[in-house]
Amino acid sequence: MVVKFDDATTLEENDNGALQTHFENSVAFVMDHWKPLLIGGISVFVLLVSVFLITFFATSLLLRVHPKRRRKRVQNLKLRQKLVYFLFLNSVNFSFIHSENSTTITSVTPPDSYTTVDPRNQSCTNHFTLINGKCWRMFNLTHSRTSADGICFLHNGATLVSIKSANENRALVDFVKNEHLDTVWTGLLCNNGTNITSCIWDIQAGTAARYSNFEAGYPDVTYGGCVYFTASGKAIGQWGSAQCSQSMAFVCELPATVLGEKIDLDSFLVLFPDETCIFNYNGNCYTRFDNYWNFSGAQRECESRCSNLVSIHSANEMRFIQTIYSDVQSAFIRIGGIAMSQDFLIWTDGSPGDFDNIQYFQPGSCIIMATGTSKSGYWYTHPCDQGYVYLCKRPAGVHC
Ligand SMILES: *[C@@H]1O[C@H](CO)[C@@H](O)[C@H](O)[C@H]1NC(C)=O
Ligand SMILES: *[C@@H]1O[C@H](CO)[C@@H](O)[C@H](O)[C@H]1NC(C)=O
Ligand SMILES: *[C@@H]1O[C@H](CO)[C@@H](O)[C@H](O)[C@H]1NC(C)=O
Ligand SMILES: *[C@@H]1O[C@H](CO)[C@@H](O)[C@H](O)[C@H]1NC(C)=O
Ligand SMILES: *[C@@H]1O[C@H](CO)[C@@H](O)[C@H](O)[C@H]1NC(C)=O
Ligand SMILES: *[C@@H]1O[C@H](CO)[C@@H](O)[C@H](O)[C@H]1NC(C)=O
Ligand SMILES: *[C@@H]1O[C@H](CO)[C@@H](O)[C@H](O)[C@H]1NC(C)=O
Repeated sequence: MVVKFDDATTLEENDNGALQTHFENSVAFVMDHWKPLLIGGISVFVLLVSVFLITFFATSLLLRVHPKRRRKRVQNLKLRQKLVYFLFLNSVNFSFIHSENSTTITSVTPPDSYTTVDPRNQSCTNHFTLINGKCWRMFNLTHSRTSADGICFLHNGATLVSIKSANENRALVDFVKNEHLDTVWTGLLCNNGTNITSCIWDIQAGTAARYSNFEAGYPDVTYGGCVYFTASGKAIGQWGSAQCSQSMAFVCELPATVLGEKIDLDSFLVLFPDETCIFNYNGNCYTRFDNYWNFSGAQRECESRCSNLVSIHSANEMRFIQTIYSDVQSAFIRIGGIAMSQDFLIWTDGSPGDFDNIQYFQPGSCIIMATGTSKSGYWYTHPCDQGYVYLCKRPAGVHC
């Protein structure tokens, strides 16, 4: 007696004939029910295709905010750099680039982070406060202009405050009005008569021609060549000239920067602090290396850390770099510039050659910078096979 518990038991207990009957039954079943089976099959197929498409689009949406995508951009950039090194290492005569500057150079576009920091993730270092995309810190100590500037410098190479628009002027009124001070130093120098156009923000950061808010009768170099900001009273927010040796409180300024990387993980914003970023300035991390390398070796070392040899885009950035070497008296450091001529250079990171401080154009086209406490910040050109210590730079938040 065969007890049928289930199909499996049935198969085990039956002989081959019974198995064949089973198969024939299945075929008959398919013949009888082919329409619903076909519809079912098509439905399953459509379902699978939809799942695939949904997954595909969801993934590409996520990638839009995912760091991998940025890494890809960095890799694209690396390709462009490789082209530059390729040309460079093969000692190609660069004059052809000069003659085609509009095409060759504009094709090397800088990554976003070299231009401005994304306003959504701006932060400040050194206990500065983020105000209108700049970092300010009040120093309620009275000092001469030079000494005040020196105290700012100790904080990541900060400068005295600059005011480039009516908006910033209002923000500064709000920033200082509760300090009960008469005046604070600004970073403006007016050394030429009463001519506003000749007033210069330090350092080399433009003139006051576009915006100024002088009190009537100022600037006037007969009162002094340094400019203060009135911090209380009727004239609050207006500027005046004073002797630079006078003592006043002051506000220091740094550009905003990025302290970490924000990642959108299923729409939760997560901030990862960038602990490896010791020298953080204006959205970039700088890494100092004290071993000696020729140009290609130094660049390779930087690349292995997701960086490039440093590119420099303003006198204020140079001032910041000086603070990285404040423990040495004198050093020539290798930077990422290649000079085609005294006034035409390219950077290994592909950023624009918008700032140039070459003082001594000598044989060789790689740029080194005099730095350290006794050094000028001047740039020199020198043969690329010479060994120098070097400085790397990468956008803050980019990791290897
Ligand atoms: C580079 O090439 C240009 C013409 O293409 C030539 O005038 C110049 O002398 C060359 N410079 C060197 C250093 O070979
Ligand atoms: C390249 O730049 C120089 C100076 O900036 C300019 O005189 C020259 O016309 C430019 N060449 C081309 C092809 O645009
Ligand atoms: C700043 O210094 C002035 C003069 O020394 C003082 O009157 C004022 O209370 C100080 N402000 C703050 C906020 O400490
Ligand atoms: C000062 O201004 C005069 C014209 O008012 C100009 O000729 C002179 O070059 C200026 N000096 C400086 C150092 O800018
Ligand atoms: C003011 O200074 C600028 C730059 O130094 C100069 O070009 C201009 O001529 C000066 N204007 C007057 C009225 O002196
Ligand atoms: C800046 O913020 C945007 C949006 O919040 C984000 O996509 C981007 O990755 C951030 N960049 C950095 C360097 O953190
Ligand atoms: C740089 O140094 C490395 C290793 O010493 C060497 O292989 C390479 O040829 C050098 N490159 C240049 C441009 O001198």
